[in-house]
Amino acid sequence: MKYHASLLSAAALSLLAGCSDTPSSPGDVTQVTFPDGMLWGSATAGMQIEKGLAATDWAIFSNESGNIQGGGKPDDGPDALAHVDADVGSMVDAGFNAYRFSIEMSRLYPTRESFDADIPIAAGVAAYDEVLAALKKQGIRPMVTLHHFSWPDYLSDPSKRKDPQGWEREDIVPVFTEWCRRAAKRWGDEVDLWVTVNEPNVEANVGYLAGVFPPGVLDVERAAAVMRAQVQAHARCYDAVHAEDQKDADGDGETASVGIAHHQRVYEPADPASEDDLAAAERSRYVWNLWIMESIVRGKVDDDFDGVPEKDDPMLAGRADFYGLNYYGPSRVDSRGLKFKYIGVVPAQYDVQNGRPKTDLGWDIYPEGFGIVLDEATAYGLPIYITENGLADEKDVNRERFVAEHLFELGKARARGADVRGYLHWSLIDNFEWAAGYCPRFGLLRVDYDDPKRTRTPTKAVSLLRDLAASNTLDRALIDALPAYQDKPFTCAGF
Ligand code: FCB
Repeated sequence: MKYHASLLSAAALSLLAGCSDTPSSPGDVTQVTFPDGMLWGSATAGMQIEKGLAATDWAIFSNESGNIQGGGKPDDGPDALAHVDADVGSMVDAGFNAYRFSIEMSRLYPTRESFDADIPIAAGVAAYDEVLAALKKQGIRPMVTLHHFSWPDYLSDPSKRKDPQGWEREDIVPVFTEWCRRAAKRWGDEVDLWVTVNEPNVEANVGYLAGVFPPGVLDVERAAAVMRAQVQAHARCYDAVHAEDQKDADGDGETASVGIAHHQRVYEPADPASEDDLAAAERSRYVWNLWIMESIVRGKVDDDFDGVPEKDDPMLAGRADFYGLNYYGPSRVDSRGLKFKYIGVVPAQYDVQNGRPKTDLGWDIYPEGFGIVLDEATAYGLPIYITENGLADEKDVNRERFVAEHLFELGKARARGADVRGYLHWSLIDNFEWAAGYCPRFGLLRVDYDDPKRTRTPTKAVSLLRDLAASNTLDRALIDALPAYQDKPFTCAGF
């Protein structure tokens, strides 16, 4: 296995060399700042917060018993489309100026016939018009995701999981491109920030290797095919959005700005003294963190994922105007684990015994890792938006410190050169957390699921974020005054 040294960030190289001067070194930084015009806000996805997306693969998947912890259904959630004004009002109260959400293809085109004839459901169009109008009224910039894990059921049907699904379908690139074109045409006057695909690597991994997202299979060839198709579809979607969205919606001098929301982790060797573990961790980092960005930014085609691109493709290169970064934490890579073609060993993410505090899902709380992935992102020379960062915190005991520590690392990364322009916390409200159902509470606003009105209550991090958004400054002393982390204060099984 060979990897180009040029792919490695300075931070990763220093880690591999055992150097202690990493971004996490305690320094004497006492204050960090955020740029003028910084976007502050939160992120959601339609399938996780809206009711009535019955014509989707996730609806089918959640109706099969055993797929969702606790048996929760997407329709049991916060019912966001019935709370638009209140939720946008909460964003205003939090001092936010941005909101990332998805527009769901299946709400507009619930059947293949409606898609082919381009006859969208009027109520679906009106629902998203209402969200965009409410945001506009409050001066909140929308960032719209065009695909956040869920497909209409005519493109992906987990009850037929042996058939090609979603990204595997022969027609998926033209179909997805057409979807992007229509969305950009319809909403380009209101939207400047577009995310084509949310976490392509996670969708491939969790759907086709862990088997806990649709289609629920374990097949590395299919996972690899999905990733190859995703970068093609993204690139054509990028072109389609630019072709249709010619209006500068927010007056910043630019029309559309298009990217992906890229899930990026820190891959740590189980034994830092083991050459094999170091190599396995580096392989994971290449496959999961770098491969996609190498494709869509630098046009590198590496179909066998071996770190040595076979060719350059000008139709892939330069297809990102910004780097959307989703960061949740690290994974441990143990070369003694089961090895797969293309990807090597599958990293472990849950309840790794390493002394770090854990969230309710057993994920490590590791703010320093945010600095490491931000340095990786910086190497691509693009503006960076944090499109997701958050934690499951049912008891509301860790979120304030988590947010403050992550933003402190973000501030330090900026000082090292990261052009970060926004922080969108995952999530605005508690929601349907995919295979983990309703146990994990990621919301800045807590949702009362026992109340038919789905009342929302702000968690403590809301006022913290409001102060940060107002001052664009964060003092280390503020973090030092916050309560220490509680280790895994509540238990939701990992998924
Ligand atoms: C990310 C997903 C998002 C949410 C968070 C917790 O991987 O993009 O929808 O599930 O994790």
